[in-house]
Amino acid sequence: MSMTRRDFLQASLATLAACAAPKAGGPGGAPSAAAPTKILILGGTSFLGPALVEAARARGDVVTLFNRGKTNPGKFTDVEQLHGDRNGKLEALAGRKWDVVIDTSGYVPRIVRLSAELLAPSVERYVFVSSISAYDESIPPGSDEDAKIAQLSDPATEDVRASYGALKAACERAAEAAMPGRVLVVRPGLIVGPGDPTDRFTYWPVRLAEGGEVLAPGTGDDPIQVVDVRDLGGWMVDMADRRSTGTFNAVGPASRTSMRSMLEACQPAAGPKAGLTWVPAAFLEKEKVEPWGDMPVWIPAGGPESGMSQVSIARAVAAGLRFRPLPETARDTLSWWNSLPAERRAKPRAGISRERERQVLAAWKASRG
Ligand SMILES: NC(=O)c1ccc[n+]([C@@H]2O[C@H](COP(=O)([O-])OP(=O)(O)OC[C@H]3O[C@@H](n4cnc5c(N)ncnc54)[C@H](OP(=O)(O)O)[C@@H]3O)[C@@H](O)[C@H]2O)c1
Repeated sequence: MSMTRRDFLQASLATLAACAAPKAGGPGGAPSAAAPTKILILGGTSFLGPALVEAARARGDVVTLFNRGKTNPGKFTDVEQLHGDRNGKLEALAGRKWDVVIDTSGYVPRIVRLSAELLAPSVERYVFVSSISAYDESIPPGSDEDAKIAQLSDPATEDVRASYGALKAACERAAEAAMPGRVLVVRPGLIVGPGDPTDRFTYWPVRLAEGGEVLAPGTGDDPIQVVDVRDLGGWMVDMADRRSTGTFNAVGPASRTSMRSMLEACQPAAGPKAGLTWVPAAFLEKEKVEPWGDMPVWIPAGGPESGMSQVSIARAVAAGLRFRPLPETARDTLSWWNSLPAERRAKPRAGISRERERQVLAAWKASRG
């Protein structure tokens, strides 16, 4: 089945809803000297949430989680957890006060409005985790936070699979309407690292560690953008501690990074050496090998969505977002993956199958005589 980046996002959302991430990222950053920030996370137990919890704890902040108790229920036994449902069961939040709420689990504006209106009198800041997908997919490379936003064709829709990005943009507006001037909107690109339940970036360090001939997409020069969940979580907690507001693209690495450099970063120092065979985008298209879905992280330069992997991060970098080296992310992701049960590793959630990879490589060689 062929999958575009948008299809893959939609499928990933379904997977995320159905699965629980068993591991968290590590702490990032020194404890803050100021009074601890009281942080409420709407969510907190899958992937970004745990990185936020670890970063907040490392800074001496005080964290409360609000969720349904379904995803990784035993994860944080030493953190206050309130239970309810964002879709109308918010009683556990009433009568409480926090400095900052971080909303990692808002996907439709009605539900974001419910929590933002309820919490407006009892929190200073609302941090909404949006996405680069909030932009119109046609934005040009280098676009900043003022780029064209995705529009809902039906303003009443709550179909997250069909309208993920435009709904995220509508959620941003709902939060701002409830708490004018008190909202921080974070628009991450692809979030990666240990604990990632989607296996997108993970595909590459795992594939390279297996060795042999690896199908690599394009010329190698196509730009990629990813952000380590631990860097993102640490920076977001810093922003919360500073009570920052505004809108920020949040992705890395710090400078332009090609698919080739990313794969070089994913090549483990020890273990079998993989050989990369770069196959042009046009041939892959003919073979129905899809960017993003079959070849995770890759968006061909010059294609219709190429701006989505080349957004400007100048504003976030000026506000302190920093990035660990990509080889560190790859190494830690691989060792996290190797710690997972064999049944989980037998069913990767992204990337081309080994059988199909062999077929495409054979077809490529045959085409060249
Ligand atoms: N992954 C990426 O590459 C990427 C890229 C760009 C943006 N983003 C955004 O980043 C965020 C990351 O999310 P995450 O899943 O890693 O966050 P998380 O905070 O680690 O996990 C999601 C949490 O939401 C809770 N939750 C789900 N439905 C709920 C409901 N109806 N009521 C109360 N709690 C509910 C879940 O717990 P229960 O199930 O127990 O309720 C879980 O604790 C998302 O907003 C996503 O759109 C992700």
